[in-house]
Amino acid sequence: MCGIVGYVGAKSASEVVVEGLRRMEYRGYDSAGIAIAADGRLAVAKKSGKLANLEAAIAEQPLPDAGTGIGHTRWATHGAPNDVNAHPHVADSGRVAVIHNGIIENFMSLRAELEGAGIHFLSQTDTEVVAHLLGAELDGGADLAGAMRAVCRRLEGAFTLVAVDAEDPGTVVAARRNSPLVVGLGEGENFVASDVAAFIEHTREAVELGQDQLVVITADSWTVTDFAGEPAACKPFRVEWDLSAAEKGGYDWFMRKEIFEQPKAVADTLLGRLGEDGELVLDEVRISTDELRRIDKIIIIACGTASYAGLVAKYAIEHWTRIPCEVELASEFRYRDPIVSPSTLVVAISQSGETADTLMAIRHAQQQKAKVLAICNTNGSTIPREADAVIYTHAGPEIAVASTKGFLTQVVACYLLGLYLAQVHGTKFGDEIKAVLAELEALPGQIQHVLDSTTDQARELAQELVDAPSVLFLGRHVGYPIALEGALKLKELAYIHAEGFAAGELKHGPIALIQDRLPMFVVVPPRGRDMLHDKVVSNIQEVRARGARTIVLAELDDSEPRPYADTLIRLPSVSTLLQPMLAIVPLQVFACELATLKGHDVDQPRNLAKSVTVE
Ligand code: F6R
Repeated sequence: MCGIVGYVGAKSASEVVVEGLRRMEYRGYDSAGIAIAADGRLAVAKKSGKLANLEAAIAEQPLPDAGTGIGHTRWATHGAPNDVNAHPHVADSGRVAVIHNGIIENFMSLRAELEGAGIHFLSQTDTEVVAHLLGAELDGGADLAGAMRAVCRRLEGAFTLVAVDAEDPGTVVAARRNSPLVVGLGEGENFVASDVAAFIEHTREAVELGQDQLVVITADSWTVTDFAGEPAACKPFRVEWDLSAAEKGGYDWFMRKEIFEQPKAVADTLLGRLGEDGELVLDEVRISTDELRRIDKIIIIACGTASYAGLVAKYAIEHWTRIPCEVELASEFRYRDPIVSPSTLVVAISQSGETADTLMAIRHAQQQKAKVLAICNTNGSTIPREADAVIYTHAGPEIAVASTKGFLTQVVACYLLGLYLAQVHGTKFGDEIKAVLAELEALPGQIQHVLDSTTDQARELAQELVDAPSVLFLGRHVGYPIALEGALKLKELAYIHAEGFAAGELKHGPIALIQDRLPMFVVVPPRGRDMLHDKVVSNIQEVRARGARTIVLAELDDSEPRPYADTLIRLPSVSTLLQPMLAIVPLQVFACELATLKGHDVDQPRNLAKSVTVE
């Protein structure tokens, strides 16, 4: 959601903060703002729209050259995305400015109380109450850290708050509850931010803050306490990737770059997990093998694309482990009284590690005494910190809002988990496990082959279908989640109607949608699964007979669908469970190309934000 950055040091705070915001603009992009503390006063600039609007305003009216500042890109929750509702918000006294990510649930009663005391509100945001509460605490004699602690104790909901005080330039105070915040430790300069991308240009040394913690940074110190002011433990870490990973590197879109990084992302996710003899090494799963042996049910919880990665994984995990595996949307999970016990393993999949729905779902699972294992791409984020165990995907930063390499590496990590459980439960022998691992090792090369051989075709298809009002996707078995994911990519990027269906369901309703030249992508299973393969080929005939324009993804030497395919996209021959990781690639490219042709911002689709930190 919102992107937050704070800086204290010798550099120009406005330059450092704006650059940090640029790297986090993917988190929210409907308005942006900055506050600089200089000469005993605060200079504030804020603008609705993209960061470029704020930059233009600063160019017209430059901010003071000082070393302390905070900045924010917003994804609106309370109040329209206009200049007034943009952050920072400033107390009546003009002394303190604050930025916020999250939702303050009791803001109505706090606002009523402040209005009753004669405070005049300028915005419709929940954040403005914090500015006025901080102002009142400072007026009462507290310092900024003390004021922030006192205010945080009164707040309900989720928040990261970062504030500067005009009378204490050289200090930035930040606090978090249920919302992301990392500290960057530089030489003679320190940072706070929603994620490390904001300061990776300056330092790779970072600290993750725990729940209900507050940090005070100056140029050469940082102190962490809890909301009562007691010293608190927090975890330092080193960011593994460098600046180039957070830049476009010659690509027009981050999304395109991330699609093309998939061979490396998958290879990196496998790295160090295959032993010298080809066996599986998964030391990081810190749940004992005894406990894992007791697992009799797996529930995968996730949102959006991550949930489709979970759906693919369900087929593999059940097949290999014979343990029942459910996949549930995190936003539904805790509201339906799910059956969870100490012998349930809950697997939470989240690229960002901050998705509020997923976080709340794992807390619910832990209350029911289930073990929680996170599959996550973001070091220092909340979900892996709260989980009992974590398998990190090593995709590198995913900056485009639409997930691509995040998805592929999530499937790979889930497969590693499935094989590990099969090893522990003895449902697969060593040689069988090694055979699958060998297939996984070959995957990066095969994904590269798909990129090399199908990208032009996907681009041409996008040109041809640019005006299609609707596109359908059909798949079966592990191809079904690929149909769902292909449709989601198209919806979120190209803003056209797209639906994914299980091919077997076609005759139970969706077939009625078919009319002349309706584009329909069909993922054909490898011929190794004869029955399903033949049934899906029959489905292609059925839809074509009713006028659909068929785009068929099938194995390289599978000639059977050819007569019924208007376009045939060839995939390398792999086993059924591996095919989704190849089939999704042309669908990602197609969505990216079609959105580009329509003139949309591919990296920042309308109304969306990466890392959805509110429920
Ligand atoms: C779609 C997309 C989203 C995310 C979902 C979960 O392209 O990216 O559907 O997959 O918001 O996000 P994480 O994985 O960060 O929990």
